[in-house]
Amino acid sequence: MECRPANGDSDPNQNPDKNSVGPPSALTYLDPHYWDERFSSEEHYEWFKDYSHFQHLINSNINTSSSVLELGCGNSQLCEELYKDGIVDITCIDLSYVAVDKMQSRLLSKGYKEIKVVQADMLDLPFESECFDVVFEKGTMDVLFVDAGDPWNPRQETVSKVMATLDGVHRVLKPDGIFISITFGQPHFRRPLFMDPKFNWSMEYNTFGDGFHYFFYILRKGKRLIDEKEKDQKHNDPLINMYQDELEGEDYLFRTNIDADED
Ligand SMILES: C[S@@+](CC[C@H](N)C(=O)[O-])C[C@H]1O[C@@H](n2cnc3c(N)ncnc32)[C@H](O)[C@@H]1O
Repeated sequence: MECRPANGDSDPNQNPDKNSVGPPSALTYLDPHYWDERFSSEEHYEWFKDYSHFQHLINSNINTSSSVLELGCGNSQLCEELYKDGIVDITCIDLSYVAVDKMQSRLLSKGYKEIKVVQADMLDLPFESECFDVVFEKGTMDVLFVDAGDPWNPRQETVSKVMATLDGVHRVLKPDGIFISITFGQPHFRRPLFMDPKFNWSMEYNTFGDGFHYFFYILRKGKRLIDEKEKDQKHNDPLINMYQDELEGEDYLFRTNIDADED
């Protein structure tokens, strides 16, 4: 079955002509206008490392016939890299119509015609149920956490938005599909959300990066173990040192509220 968007495509309006810089506060990442303005002048920015750092994890979990949905593609090259690895059934979404317009133009200019790019909100995915083998997100859900407050006890508004996203991802995944989340969000903060009892996926993770750990979560739909071991595991996730000597790009802005609450 083809995964068809239920609604229209990207907004054809022209984007504002304004240069963007890194925002003064991580809270700005919650403002959709920020992303539109930023993408109007920025051609490429790769959050949390590029494909080469986690390609081995992708290759061992996805095959080339997989239908893939990427949440919040921005101006990342992830979809191009997947395509070069032989995965052609790719749909990218982003809330920013500027990101979508520019991504469509870039992919067409490179001849990657099969990749679909759709303006959509990850909190309300406009796709039929059970139609993707893989859903990806890299740094996109982290946007939802910038106003979470205490990471051990995130604000209810943050939790609601995260759960709306996870509900949608779980719904659009095929019964044996997988959700891949690439983030710096540590397991003891992510597990309570990913492993809400309503989801029937299992959770595992790998780390990558040099001085700083990024996490590569894999949630496998239909594979949840309903036993005591799984419940106990949530208390055993290691606390990983969040500090690094060299800050990479803007990643530190995402980390700010977590670090502030760690002490
Ligand atoms: C931190 S950037 C990550 C971009 C890209 N995934 C990468 O790895 O470089 C977050 C992206 O999520 C998009 N975004 C934010 N909120 C969104 C939402 N509710 N639905 C879809 N995309 C969203 C932003 O427009 C931006 O492109």
